[in-house]
Amino acid sequence: MPEFQRFSYDVLVIGAGGAGLRAAIEASAHGARVGVVCKSVLGKAHTVMAEGGIAAALSNVDDRDSWRVHFSDTMRGGQYLNNWRMAELHAKEAPECVRELEAWGALFDRTPDGRILQRNFGGHRYPRLAHVGDRTGLEMIRTLQDHGIHTGMEVHMECTVLRLLLDEGRIAGACGFDRAKGRFYLWEAKAVVLATGGTGRVYKVTSNSGENTGDGLALAYSAGAELLDMEFVQFHPTGMVWPISVRGILVTEGVRGEGGVLRNSEGRRFMFDDIPDLYKEQTADNEEEGWRYTQGDKSARRPPELLTRDHVARCIRREVKAGRGSPHGGVYLDIAWIKKRLPKAEEHIKRKLPSMYHQFKQLADLDITKEPMEVGPTTHYMMGGVRVDGDSQMSTVPGLFAAGEAAAGLHGANRLGGNSLSDLLVFGRRAGRYAADFASSHAAAKIDEGELQAAAAASLAVFDRGPAGENPYQVQYDLQEAMQDLVGIVRMENEMQHALDELGKLRQRAERAGVAGNREYNNGWQTAIDAGNLLLVAEAITRAALLRQESRGAQFREDFPAKDAEWGKYNIIISRGADGGMRVEKRAITPLPSELKAVIEEMK
Ligand code: FUM
Repeated sequence: MPEFQRFSYDVLVIGAGGAGLRAAIEASAHGARVGVVCKSVLGKAHTVMAEGGIAAALSNVDDRDSWRVHFSDTMRGGQYLNNWRMAELHAKEAPECVRELEAWGALFDRTPDGRILQRNFGGHRYPRLAHVGDRTGLEMIRTLQDHGIHTGMEVHMECTVLRLLLDEGRIAGACGFDRAKGRFYLWEAKAVVLATGGTGRVYKVTSNSGENTGDGLALAYSAGAELLDMEFVQFHPTGMVWPISVRGILVTEGVRGEGGVLRNSEGRRFMFDDIPDLYKEQTADNEEEGWRYTQGDKSARRPPELLTRDHVARCIRREVKAGRGSPHGGVYLDIAWIKKRLPKAEEHIKRKLPSMYHQFKQLADLDITKEPMEVGPTTHYMMGGVRVDGDSQMSTVPGLFAAGEAAAGLHGANRLGGNSLSDLLVFGRRAGRYAADFASSHAAAKIDEGELQAAAAASLAVFDRGPAGENPYQVQYDLQEAMQDLVGIVRMENEMQHALDELGKLRQRAERAGVAGNREYNNGWQTAIDAGNLLLVAEAITRAALLRQESRGAQFREDFPAKDAEWGKYNIIISRGADGGMRVEKRAITPLPSELKAVIEEMK
């Protein structure tokens, strides 16, 4: 029987990206003893890939902005499936969270009069994204890490969490192992915050790093929590398409925010061809006006490249399918064209988009100040996740909280760019505070030693099967191919049914997975565990996408291409059924209170 090293905390935070670090800081500030477990090394968080900025109605660049406009933009972007309470808290608290980050040392770009500069992003009515060039997520992680490390939190790096532990339905902690030595760990905790990020690795082409295998969602589901709106997977319109080895890496929306335009192989700005009714009034229908908007002309409407991500991604797909794509299956994103309009454009591009400049120079041998980039959609973000209470971020399991991308609700059917970094700050802070409160009002829970041993034994079974078992890398690869082909940007019932059959077969193969070697730094072992989580998330995405028979936000059904007002009244909930199978149900959305309804009406 493997031995467990034991640690005991008030609050255990799983994940050390923006949400996890912010939760840990807040829980510590509320007097909790905090442990942080991260899958990678501290500082290597996917948060750094949110490059373009933090959305917050600071009103530094346009004084017409306010929490009310931000709230209504977020609701409209999410096609009104959002948890409106979260959207309200987010819009109201984001500015304070940005200022707090600044006070902790984040060095934002500045306006000429020294305030935090804000840039344009898709779906935001006014320039709203506080940014640090195109390295905002990196600056956020650096700042939170520097600040957090002094709060006394204990960090367990390169650890895999196998299971959440319960005591009569309440959270009791978690168990797992460290990858360096393969030693088993028990983290006892009165409250647990899941901040494990996204699920992009379910797909073949993704901007997400290798850690984003949906672990938190799988852990929460297995512990009895509900998952919400799993059908809504965001395909960011602009990932690299070439060279093939870096396909999917993010090309920040900040490029379009700075004036970058999309063109097809005929050189035409195809985004002018299809402007949704919902955004017609706010969108420019000519190049001149779009450019003036980019330059801060308040009387101009924003360029169509800054429509919401779901729409831009589908337009790009349409161009490629119609044979008007670039040589490597994308379209052209051109920022170099601003030389025609802006003196010192090269300098401007290098200053505002330094990471993009280096990314393309080093990976594709292309100078973005001179040539257009080739880009195409890439799986970027999961709007679905653990269903939580809007105020406290507690899931349906007492003592289990979730924040950031692992939690769901704020973004509804589609997230606006920049709303993820503000989400991490606002709801990381809330989750940390409420988790600390929960811990201080509850006694330690009991650990079921039998469950602990069962978790270790289940994870070690791959070694008994050895290299004769199924190759876990192949299982993961085949899963990603199936999801990319069958449950991607455009979905059809027959294809998704086929995907479910494939997932069933893959699950059987995953159960026969075997690995060679021992427990020290054994990536095959890790991959076998990841495959289990990915399969669970993939099934949840597919079942929810099948049930929602309409097209809305990030879900586009070719067999149900219209938005259906009736479906606009429901979220989809996934939970573990009594028979162990996945239960999928629609649940009516709580109607908006009259004061928030009035805000939306006023903003229309
Ligand atoms: O395009 C970007 O920089 C991504 C930002 C985000 O997803 O919020």
